[in-house]
Amino acid sequence: MILDEIMKRKSGRAFTNKPITDEMLNSILEAGRWAPSCGNTQAWNFVVLRDANALEKAHEVLSKGNAWGKSAPVIILVTAKEDDGCPAHGLPYFAMDVGLAVQNMLLQAVHLGLMGHPTAGWNEDGLKEVTGIPDEYRIVTVVFFGYEGDFDNLDERTQENEKKPRTRKELSEIVHWNVW
Ligand SMILES: Cc1cc2nc3c(=O)[nH]c(=O)nc-3n(C[C@H](O)[C@H](O)[C@H](O)COP(=O)(O)O)c2cc1C
Repeated sequence: MILDEIMKRKSGRAFTNKPITDEMLNSILEAGRWAPSCGNTQAWNFVVLRDANALEKAHEVLSKGNAWGKSAPVIILVTAKEDDGCPAHGLPYFAMDVGLAVQNMLLQAVHLGLMGHPTAGWNEDGLKEVTGIPDEYRIVTVVFFGYEGDFDNLDERTQENEKKPRTRKELSEIVHWNVW
């Protein structure tokens, strides 16, 4: 049941710095590449940070609340041009396409026994500067990947966040059968 792996995925914050093999990382990127996209526009670009120097520079522009991400051995910046997606309905489909690619990557990580955590807490200009991402691209999300580590190594505030139960709205609140 793929649902088991979907349910197992979680945005955990306790990472170890144990490296991820090239094979694993390539399979995560491959999972992203094969996501569907509106009109097959494939608006995504993935900037993979895994060298110590590149990771260190990125760590400096993370928000304080996402400092837990510094333990992750791989960070993937998911970028897109806002006008590179499909123009249907005037909707920002590039963001949906990127989201589908990210979920594919997160699920492949779960399948490999890894954890992935997407975030929005960082300084976009700062990250662009340290990675050379061109001005016309937006960083849609920054995803941390690695093995799950020890909860006790997290700071107090992050431990509190980690203890919060993972919740979802009931299907009865969000599903409309035949009519709204
Ligand atoms: C676009 C996006 C941005 C997020 N930004 C952050 C973030 O900056 N920091 C953080 O700790 N979690 C972040 N999250 C994780 C969410 O808090 C998490 O997905 C949500 O609480 C549901 O928990 P779950 O992923 O464990 O099911 C983000 C998730 C998404 C999809």
